[in-house]
Amino acid sequence: MIEPLSYDKETGTLYVLDQTLLPHEERYIAVNTLDELIEAIKALRVRGAPLLGLAGAYGLLFAVLESEKSPDFWEELQKRVDLLVNARPTAVNLKKEVDSILQDIPMTAEPYEVAAMVYEKVLSLENRLKNDDLSLASHGADLLKGKRRILTICNTGTLATGGIGTALGVIKVKHARDDLDVAYLCETRPVLQGARLSAWELIKENVPHYIITDNTAPYLMSLGKVDAVVVGADRVAKNGDTANKVGTLMLAIAAKHYAIDFYVAAPTSSFDMTIADGQAIVIEQRDPEEVLQIRGVRIAPEGSPALNYAFDVTPASLIDGYITEQGILKAPFAEVKKVGR
Ligand code: MRU
Repeated sequence: MIEPLSYDKETGTLYVLDQTLLPHEERYIAVNTLDELIEAIKALRVRGAPLLGLAGAYGLLFAVLESEKSPDFWEELQKRVDLLVNARPTAVNLKKEVDSILQDIPMTAEPYEVAAMVYEKVLSLENRLKNDDLSLASHGADLLKGKRRILTICNTGTLATGGIGTALGVIKVKHARDDLDVAYLCETRPVLQGARLSAWELIKENVPHYIITDNTAPYLMSLGKVDAVVVGADRVAKNGDTANKVGTLMLAIAAKHYAIDFYVAAPTSSFDMTIADGQAIVIEQRDPEEVLQIRGVRIAPEGSPALNYAFDVTPASLIDGYITEQGILKAPFAEVKKVGR
């Protein structure tokens, strides 16, 4: 089993599988401070909405330990938490998991007690993510029974959740049930999470797949070679608008045109019931160099600028349903149970 994050309680070291090096090198980096963790989050060494939630929870543990000696413990902690939750803005899980842990800690607790309480919460979050994935993937595989050719984007597998994955989890479970013909993996320019990470996971599990360039997807649909599109989510608004890896919107528009089912697979912890619609979602813009270079080699002329939106927002009207750990949901959501646990 791949472990994207693993914590050694004795030494206080968080081992992070450096996803920027995959698939060529499986190397863990040792993270011992909040600053190091924030760097790992920003550089996409650890990524994917649910896993960012877990990384945030470990970050909170570092923040508590680093604030312990300060006479203004709570003030100091809050400063560090602010830096942590703003490391990446789009995935709701990062801030939400940190806030939800903090909410349950009494302000009367001593710093050493806070550290112990946070650690317990991190462990239960780790379990919850794994269990949510299993339920979600099984609901998705039931829903898409017989739909054998599934197209997806980005990486929504173990590397993105620590569990079996969300959209990729559905694909894995369908394969395990002998109900998958093939998965199409959009390569996912510019960081190539599909070609590098999802393919790496599916190779390990012998799941049949093709990597396609992102712009091949509508053509494959036009050929009648796609039965369903299943994607992950970084944030689902109350009306069902969904932020996910840039390119998702183009898949949804094409799927609608060709009357192909389009599903978002996401745990309800990725739902943000505090925002009415997708307009309120902050879309991360990353370094243009990610677009201008491929693996360190410049592909554009010097002087050409680039835009690098990391995510886009797909309107709810293009989404046929939401595969969650609670079952298949339809937008708009009056209420999503257990959100903010
Ligand atoms: O920039 P990334 O790699 O963190 O983007 C990840 C995605 O867009 C995923 O689809 C999303 O976080 C869901 S992961 C289960």
